Amino acid sequence: MDQAAPTGSRTTPEQLTAAAAASFDACADERLRTLVQALVRHLHGFAAEVGLTQEEWAHAIRILTETGHITDEHRQEFILWSDSLGLSMLVDALAHPAPAGATESTVLGPFYVPGAPLREYGANLAAEPAGDPAWVHGRVLDLAGKPIPDAELDVWQNGDDRLYAVQRAEAAEDHLRGRFRTGPDGRYAFLAVRPVPYTIPDDGPVGRMLDATGRHPWRPAHIHMIVRAPGYRTVATHIFDGDSEYLDSDAVFAVKRSLVRRFVRRPADDPERPAGVEGEWYAVESDFVLAEDDTDLRKVS
Ligand code: BEZ
Ligand code: FE
Repeated sequence: MDQAAPTGSRTTPEQLTAAAAASFDACADERLRTLVQALVRHLHGFAAEVGLTQEEWAHAIRILTETGHITDEHRQEFILWSDSLGLSMLVDALAHPAPAGATESTVLGPFYVPGAPLREYGANLAAEPAGDPAWVHGRVLDLAGKPIPDAELDVWQNGDDRLYAVQRAEAAEDHLRGRFRTGPDGRYAFLAVRPVPYTIPDDGPVGRMLDATGRHPWRPAHIHMIVRAPGYRTVATHIFDGDSEYLDSDAVFAVKRSLVRRFVRRPADDPERPAGVEGEWYAVESDFVLAEDDTDLRKVS
């Protein structure tokens, strides 16, 4: 804006926006300049579009302050805002345009803890009873359908109390988490429990926003995994239970149709019953397809 507006003339909102954006014109870092100038334009555009009142803005500042206060090394309310407003999934989509045929990525979530123990093919994820046994198996493949040996699946999930182990101080550190490697045929398998729907942490500002706007905090049942192999693009993804509630209204917009799988009920006397399982159990098959590191991104789906 022309900083020295003629005496008596009023500063218009447009001039204010232009002045705030122009204040970054000399920013030497081009990317940073692009980010802050677009941020100013969009923030101002938002305020102007909705006619933001001073009371509303003061309320928003209080919410942001509470968000800071509730956030610590265990609770990340800023990421929850990003998740619940769909921004995490948008940033993920921009970062990981899945090449046609490759497994789609989805939200990582706050409950991933690196360094899960490496477990044998078929091992049990649960350190204590945590729900109906679910035999999860399949292959890791490349885009041509060739098995990838020695790929790693880093897996974590909740139990039938709806909680991840990191949410329970008394739970064994390695409960419901583990890393698995594929064999020469690209196959992996592990014994999980059938996951259950659960709520994102809703006792803070994000929970109050969901309540005030008539939204619910539920996520459909899923198992998380990060699939990695040397020379291939890592994918952080889920298997969603096709019979779960909330598949059409995930609080964090993370459901992709290609990630939904059927958990098939199997009888207690099924000869394929995994070792250590008693009674009914479930089986779910899921292949993961990885794109090579240098896959041409122009061939995205
Ligand atoms: C999760 O799936 O673990 C998760 C994702 C986003 C917010 C909260 C939880
Ligand atoms: Fe989850």
